Amino acid sequence: MSREWWRDAVVYQIYPRSFQDSNGDGIGDLEGIIQRLDYLNDGTEQSLGIDALWFSPTFPSPMTDFGYDVSDYCGVDPAFGTLETMDRLIAECHKRGIKVLLDWVPNHSSDQHPWFIESRSSRDNPKRDWYYWRPAKPDGSLPNNWRGSFGGPAWTLDETTGEYYLHSFLREQPDLNWRNPEVERAMHDVLRFWFERGIDGFRIDVMGGIVKEPNLADNPPNPDWTPDGPRVSRQLWVNNRNYPDVYPAVKRIRKVFDEYEARVAVGEVFGTSQEVADYYGSDEEPGLHLAFNFQFIHEHEPVHTPWEAETLRRIVHNAEATLPPGAQPCYALANHDRSRFISRNNEDGHGAARARAATVMLLALRNTPFLYYGEEIGMEDVDVPEERLQDPARFRTTGRDPERTPMQWDQSPGRGFSTVEPWLPYGRVDRNVQDASAQSDSLLALTRRAIWLRKSTPVLCEGAYREIDAPAGVFAFERFAGPETATVVVNTSGAAVVVPLRRPGSVILSTIAAEEGTRCESSVTVGPFGAAVVL
Ligand code: GLC
Ligand code: CA
Repeated sequence: MSREWWRDAVVYQIYPRSFQDSNGDGIGDLEGIIQRLDYLNDGTEQSLGIDALWFSPTFPSPMTDFGYDVSDYCGVDPAFGTLETMDRLIAECHKRGIKVLLDWVPNHSSDQHPWFIESRSSRDNPKRDWYYWRPAKPDGSLPNNWRGSFGGPAWTLDETTGEYYLHSFLREQPDLNWRNPEVERAMHDVLRFWFERGIDGFRIDVMGGIVKEPNLADNPPNPDWTPDGPRVSRQLWVNNRNYPDVYPAVKRIRKVFDEYEARVAVGEVFGTSQEVADYYGSDEEPGLHLAFNFQFIHEHEPVHTPWEAETLRRIVHNAEATLPPGAQPCYALANHDRSRFISRNNEDGHGAARARAATVMLLALRNTPFLYYGEEIGMEDVDVPEERLQDPARFRTTGRDPERTPMQWDQSPGRGFSTVEPWLPYGRVDRNVQDASAQSDSLLALTRRAIWLRKSTPVLCEGAYREIDAPAGVFAFERFAGPETATVVVNTSGAAVVVPLRRPGSVILSTIAAEEGTRCESSVTVGPFGAAVVL
């Protein structure tokens, strides 16, 4: 069997509202993405060189959760374009060798989806059982104690029929009942619809939530929760996240992917390393091709993971130790739900330096790396004024707008993104593609070098992983395959370090471009917050 393409791919996540506005309404769109494809990969090292794109949902949606509330799984929202634009985008990507992943939202639809409109219309509607409807308990209280991920109870009373419906997120996002085979079939057909149009795979939203405890039993209290203690959730989400019955459902989803050639399923999953690993299934009963490991963002939600060698080492160790044979990790340093990397790691002002080392680490680890748009030019969280906040999910005080602001292409007033006031304000003007492209030592230049190096260095794609001893403050590992061994050194300390090498080589990638090409006999020197790869 030939090696699957996604094992060697670097994937770039686009938040479509914020990549490129092509028609002057202040909102990014599919035509805009087409216009910017050469930036992503024009076949030369002048471009980023990514292999696949994932964009957050572009389906018709009331946009209450900006596309994660889908009212038609088989269309394109007019704000983003039409099915014809999508077809053209797929074709243009494929012409450049770029694969396209969409974002499938199986856990819930919009409350404006025709299925839900029917379902809520009467207690005996044939679609009633497509969602979770429950009466209040005899004492008048809610059907169970589950909370929504964005705060508040997970139940809303619907006046029409006097029953509550379940929503794990906003009340505008009712949960689909995956225990109903009709729902499962309809959702599988959505995958087929897009596969037929040439989509190469899906990022799967809230994968761990789709199948709940059969009786929707209460969640037990979290023994670690105290009124003034660390911010942990009040209950353990054992009956509505990673519930054991979700795994067989995932394996049935996988079968749909396997009806087509070379498609990939990447699940958004949260949990322990073991829970994440379980989503891959086994050779006999495969599950997801890839399951996100978000631990570089938050090992223990909601606390951000510190950029600290021992923590990084542990995260990778746990992933490598739990994944089944043949499975490959999939890390991300940022996405549309979390504070941007630099902003999370900038308390002492060294966030930008850490972002460089993080880029080297991510692209040198054994994994399918996911890059979030704008990270490569060092975009930071934007301080969005109260009156312009858009995200209704305020589980962080500001919601998620700060990390969703428009891509900055140049210094012009519209940043090359739009000609009118954009849907969210721009960030610091000095972070833009045009300037970063002109500077040989920019983060963008480093990201490009790292991606292209990975492509031309098989050991960085296919090599196995092993950690090696390193001084305090340093995370060091090797990638090895046959006679080749690359050594990767990530210095999270603020002082230069000298790390012994088990074999001589040359620096093939460094956070400091001028150091590339340096010959190393028995050790490599890495500057403060720096990183290097020696081969
Ligand atoms: C996922 C998405 C997030 C969305 C939520 C509900 O976590 O990444 O943006 O709000 O699911 O669909
Ligand atoms: Ca637009």
